[in-house]
Amino acid sequence: MPPLVLLNALVALFAFGTRVQAQSCACGYQDSNGNVWGQAIVSTFTQDAGAPAALDGDWIIATDLEDQTTGINIQYTAANVFEYQDALGLQASAYDNSGLVECAEIFTQRSDILYGSFRMQTQVPSVPGVVFGFFTYISDTQEQDIEFLSSDPEYYQQVHYTNQPGTLPDGDTDPDAAKDVEVPGADFTTFGVHRIDWLPTETIYSYAGDTDAGAPISSKTTITKNVPTTPSEFIINVWSNGDPEWSKGPPTANAIATVHYANLYFNSTTFSAASFNSACSAAGNVASCSV
Ligand SMILES: *[C@@H]1O[C@H](CO)[C@@H](O)[C@H](O)[C@H]1NC(C)=O
Repeated sequence: MPPLVLLNALVALFAFGTRVQAQSCACGYQDSNGNVWGQAIVSTFTQDAGAPAALDGDWIIATDLEDQTTGINIQYTAANVFEYQDALGLQASAYDNSGLVECAEIFTQRSDILYGSFRMQTQVPSVPGVVFGFFTYISDTQEQDIEFLSSDPEYYQQVHYTNQPGTLPDGDTDPDAAKDVEVPGADFTTFGVHRIDWLPTETIYSYAGDTDAGAPISSKTTITKNVPTTPSEFIINVWSNGDPEWSKGPPTANAIATVHYANLYFNSTTFSAASFNSACSAAGNVASCSV
């Protein structure tokens, strides 16, 4: 490339990069379904400053002890949330017979999220005996979950989607609220994007990744029952409690989920339509950012 052309290309690249950087998204984020969201938490765990720094200001690392009826308790531990392979590692540790499993959880500081589009680019853990979850939560009946069970025989292509409660009053699984989805050919142990689109009348769960041969593969599942209506927080965790039915742990080796990013685009109860409109008009009614 002649020097001048190269220079122009560089200037254009720089200008483009600067514009993207400086772009305020004051008029919100438009997602691939056409929904516009006013706010975002964009956590890029692959950033130069390191994965833990990307948690600052937006996420809290859980440190609570959760008593379980299974005889093995969950101890969320800050040390189990760490820089790992240039991304964020969330670990449930190999069980040491202490009566608790050291686990990992991060949750958003805010609990006022009401509807949104939530994406996580991740690899699932392959050590059996843990649950890897990505979900909105405010109570056990106002919760929508993506869960991967590393003890599932097809754990690399199987995912559990649930709008809680996922059981009927008689204790049976409610097939309208809890769906086990297999994506033949998918490999969740390679980085793919798992997504929840939380809308007032439906939850759309989806996945986009690549097969081992490198071909794109995706799936989409909609649940219209038990869609939460209460402002919530967002949680990502890896845990085990030894329950023979679900987590099927405890793990005998460290089980680690690796997260490249967690991007949350949402509306909240603390950012009114009037505030959104005035922020957008103050920014000159720029286009929404496409996400
Ligand atoms: C999110 O909030 C903005 C501002 O109030 C509104 O214009 C938009 O329609 C809301 N998005 C959805 C999907 O409800």
